[in-house]
Formats: sequence, C-alpha cells, structure tokens
Amino acid sequence: MRIVSVNQKDLGKHSQENASTLVYDMASNRLVGVCLLFMEDQQRTFYPGLFNFGVLPAHRNRRIAANMLKRALTVLHSEYPIMRLGLLQGTYAELLYYNLGFMPADVEVEACVLPTSEINLLKSFR
Ligand SMILES: CC(C)(COP(=O)(O)OP(=O)(O)OC[C@H]1O[C@@H](n2cnc3c(N)ncnc32)[C@H](O)[C@@H]1OP(=O)(O)O)[C@@H](O)C(=O)NCCC(=O)NCCS
Repeated sequence: MRIVSVNQKDLGKHSQENASTLVYDMASNRLVGVCLLFMEDQQRTFYPGLFNFGVLPAHRNRRIAANMLKRALTVLHSEYPIMRLGLLQGTYAELLYYNLGFMPADVEVEACVLPTSEINLLKSFR
C-alpha cells in the first residue's frame, strides 16, 4: 500500500492541510481508499469535517479506513477541539466511528425522494 497525504489549499496553511489521505494499491497502482476533509464554517468558527470516505470493496476489513481516520485525527488534534462527520444510521461506518471515539451530536434528517414519474421523464432525455 502507498499512502499519499493530500495537500488541500482550501484546508488552510497549517497542519490540517495534510489531514486528508489517499491510499493506493502498489501492485495495481489503483486508488483503493479515500479520506477527504474540508473546513466547515460554523458561524465563522471553523472545524474540520469529513466529506468523502470510502474503501473499495476488495480492500475492506483490513483497517484501511480506521487508519486513514486515525491519521486525520492525529494531524488535527493539536489545533481543533472537534472533527465533524455525517453518517447514515445503521451502516458499517457507524461502528467504526464509535470505536474511534466519535460521539453522536445533533441529528439532521434529510430525506430525498424521486417519484417514478420523474424517472420516466429523465429517460426521455437520453
Ligand atoms: C465504511 C468503510 C469505509 C470501512 O472501510 P474498511 O477499510 O473496511 O474498514 P476497517 O477495516 O478500517 O474497519 C474498521 C471497523 O469498521 C467496522 N466495520 C468495517 N466493515 C465492517 C463490516 N463489513 N461489518 C461490520 N463492521 C464493519 C468494524 O467496527 C471494524 O473494526 P474491527 O476491525 O475492529 O472489527 C467501507 O465499508 C466503505 O467504503 N463503505 C462504503 C462507503 C461508506 O459507507 N462510507 C462512509 C460514509 S459515512
């Protein structure tokens, strides 16, 4: 595995700019894991947040995800009191986050629905 620290200018000029990670399989040079962070503006107070996090199915259960998150937390902890992330309740990721010490915060409910009539409309644009 090759681990690449992502230098994101929008994360600022301090240690947090290296908190995002890409993981490549050395044999295939394929990107197999991503852990991308952003700075969330909470009324002019900025917190790092997780916006893209995943591991390709063939590479799961090898602690790649846990290690990418641990890396982010290690880089960020001296400058930020919290890191935020959103999740769907009941997914595999939920246990991973709790095991790393994340705690539930405010619950945001957002439901998106696409009526079947709209699907037919979309098909007509092909
Ligand atoms: C969630 C995801 C990133 C985990 O990646 P991973 O590299 O397989 O995870 P890890 O090997 O680091 O697993 C760490 C912990 O996560 C949990 N976990 C991971 N996969 C699991 C599974 N299939 N079933 C149950 N728990 C699981 C376990 O608690 C595990 O700890 P353990 O090794 O002590 O049992 C991966 O399944 C994924 O990409 N899912 C689709 C995208 C997604 O859901 N992203 C998160 C959006 S909030």
